[in-house]
Amino acid sequence: KIPIIIDTDPGCDDTTAILMCLACEKFDVRAITSVGGNVGIEKTSNNARKIVELSGKDVKVAVGVKHPIVRKLVTAEYVHGISGLGNITLEEPSMPYYEKDAIDTIYEEAIKAHGKLRLLTLGPLTNIAVALLKYPKLKEMIDSIVFMGGAINLGNVTPAAEFNIYADPEAARIVFDSGIDMTMIGLDVTHETIVTKEQNKRLHKYNSKVAKVVAKLIDYTIDKENPYNDKGGVMHDPLAAATLIDSSVVETEDYYVDVELKSDITRGKTVTDVFRVTENKPNIHVAVKSDNNKFLDILEDMISKYE
Ligand code: BDR
Ligand code: CA
Repeated sequence: KIPIIIDTDPGCDDTTAILMCLACEKFDVRAITSVGGNVGIEKTSNNARKIVELSGKDVKVAVGVKHPIVRKLVTAEYVHGISGLGNITLEEPSMPYYEKDAIDTIYEEAIKAHGKLRLLTLGPLTNIAVALLKYPKLKEMIDSIVFMGGAINLGNVTPAAEFNIYADPEAARIVFDSGIDMTMIGLDVTHETIVTKEQNKRLHKYNSKVAKVVAKLIDYTIDKENPYNDKGGVMHDPLAAATLIDSSVVETEDYYVDVELKSDITRGKTVTDVFRVTENKPNIHVAVKSDNNKFLDILEDMISKYE
């Protein structure tokens, strides 16, 4: 099995993504590490435990660093609700947090995995950057990272920037520069990966608690995004999870990507050298196309496994 760590700020779409990965028999989910993002770190950490308990799996949750490296935390309750979990209520968790924090957990699991550890990041890249700063050898110990964040073109929190990168651009720059094999699942592809109410019936037909939660969360996302997207709900983090499960769900092209740190207007923009106008070598496999039908199949396939 492939050892993975999910670093996340749950988050409605994070929840679906986590539950997809926890169902995938290819993976040995070694830990879930929490980061502040959609809501503050206390809530994202607690939500992560709720999701693990809902899944019925035995996975540790390690708490991440409190704040972005330089910036003040920005949150997105307007998208994910006050709790971070939209319109659903999950039971308060009884499991304890793992004794080590996210940074030491990532390092500990990287040692155990002998170069095979893959990371799936669904929130700001704060934990990964801090871990790379604390443990300089870590970059050689991680197999690869699939991250939801950025965009060649669009922004969603500002016209220029995507939320996860905007929230902690300094962290993103550190991770992008690390030399780790990285795949970017940005808004260019997530906005083409949609679930409509009609398609969500595929999940509604399952009776497990997990399927009910995911179907409800997706309906919540669809409703939230109207009227500016009448096509359906955009699947940001679930597409990143699907990519880790089956990389053929996206097509990628290799580009050099940097992050804007200084400008007020374009803070956090992932500046992508599409025309190769710099001599910088590509550092990221950037997803440029996604297969919506394949995504829907992977989503159903994973969620249908819960009993
Ligand atoms: C990203 O920001 C969060 O609101 C979502 O969970 C996703 O990770 C999309 O920009
Ligand atoms: Ca997220």
